[in-house]
Amino acid sequence: MTTATRRDRTPPMLPGGLPLLGHALDLRRDPVGLLLGGHARFGEVFSLRLPGTRVTAFIGPRAQAAVFGATEDRLSAREVYRFTVPIFGKGVVYDASPEVMDEQMGLLFPALRDDRLRAYARVMQEEAEAYVAAWGDEGEVDLLAALNELTVFIASRCLVGAEFRARLSRDLAHLFHDLERGINLVAMVNPYLPLPAFRRRDRARARMAELITRIIAERRAGGRDGEDFLHVLMAARYADGRALSDDEIVGLLISTIFAGQHTSTVMGAWTGILLLEHERWLPAVLDELASEVGDGEITLEALRRLAALERCVKEAERMHPPLVMLMRRIVRDFEYDGWVLPAGGLAMVSPAAAHRLPQVFANPDRYDPDRFGPPRQEDRRTKHGLIGFGGGHHRCIGATFAQQQIKVIWSVILRRFELSLARTGHRPDYATFVVGPRRPCLVRYRRRRAGVTFAAPALVGTPP
Ligand code: HEM
Repeated sequence: MTTATRRDRTPPMLPGGLPLLGHALDLRRDPVGLLLGGHARFGEVFSLRLPGTRVTAFIGPRAQAAVFGATEDRLSAREVYRFTVPIFGKGVVYDASPEVMDEQMGLLFPALRDDRLRAYARVMQEEAEAYVAAWGDEGEVDLLAALNELTVFIASRCLVGAEFRARLSRDLAHLFHDLERGINLVAMVNPYLPLPAFRRRDRARARMAELITRIIAERRAGGRDGEDFLHVLMAARYADGRALSDDEIVGLLISTIFAGQHTSTVMGAWTGILLLEHERWLPAVLDELASEVGDGEITLEALRRLAALERCVKEAERMHPPLVMLMRRIVRDFEYDGWVLPAGGLAMVSPAAAHRLPQVFANPDRYDPDRFGPPRQEDRRTKHGLIGFGGGHHRCIGATFAQQQIKVIWSVILRRFELSLARTGHRPDYATFVVGPRRPCLVRYRRRRAGVTFAAPALVGTPP
């Protein structure tokens, strides 16, 4: 192909943007508006400019399928996520070859089987009950801050185990925060610069690794098991029979905690905020909780019967997916639908924009959890329509765990408390890598009286 024809087949470039920064500021201010504007003007595939690189957006199920279906030697996730190496560690996940990373992901699957999910359901309930027990009879909490703490406790126990959780004081919970603060735009360019945020990140990782390594040694010495990811990884073997090294176990645990904790916080917070903002959907959730779960143990089977709550979780995933853009490095020229994307740039799928396409989701800006119930089932009509957990080869391995956790947390909170939002109109805060609601997200609560049924109506007062 001549250069001239190749250039002709390069996807159209979104106009506007600033000389050096390109569309970076627009993308940070309102990515959904920017991308839907591009889609309306150019269709499924178009490019925008970020400092030093061209990003091509693929918007719509067919285009998204092309990105999710591409092999690592064409569109590489690894090349994009290398900034996670100082957090996840050497020799694991994006620092391993694609084949080894696949094998490592496979080693995690036994930790997500039904018998394990059953055990996690008990732990999740225990942690959630203990957490809200400290709330007293009435008051106000910041939902995002509260769920962040609670998911740290749950992740610590389900992934690393009871011993880790027991040592996890509130102070130690700041380690998670320091790790997360190590991810920012600078880290995506060079995660090894001598910056205070990166030094704190490295200290937090070293401390976490030290704790986990000690627990591994104690378990080996005491011949102890656990119903957690750590146990699964200690027993795991690569195809050639080799056990994971302690460093690999630590790395995989930190990676999964990291991938799942803040994302679950955000989806959990939006589930509650949207439900409380649209109170007409609450009675169905409460009635179902009363009939399927009652006041007792929240079993895996009961959780699976909570269809109304599940639809609310999915609607939160659709309206406010925590990962707004998923990127891939174009390793070799990539062709789609007559377009040619030159190697070196980035390809992008945006769950947040994709979920607002009226061709896929009717009235996409309207909160309507019933879109996921029969007979509509809008998520099942189109492959790669609902993509809050990604798609294809790199689809999230923890989706079931995350959804289960959110259902347990809301089951516990809703059956113990009457709730109302301190204000409505919550908007996403696009300034962070995992996009959550802008703080504060204050919720008022009042404990239900013992023995009083928790079926609807549930709201106290009307938000101002
Ligand atoms: C609501 C919570 C969660 C959301 C929204 C979420 C979202 C995602 C998304 C969008 C991807 C694909 C990234 C890409 O294609 O570039 C992904 C991958 C991944 N997620 Fe999650 N995730 C969540 C919870 C979890 C949990 C709880 C775990 C672990 C227990 C987990 C582990 C992973 C791992 C290991 C990958 C990489 C898979 C691969 O590349 O093969 N995630 N997640």
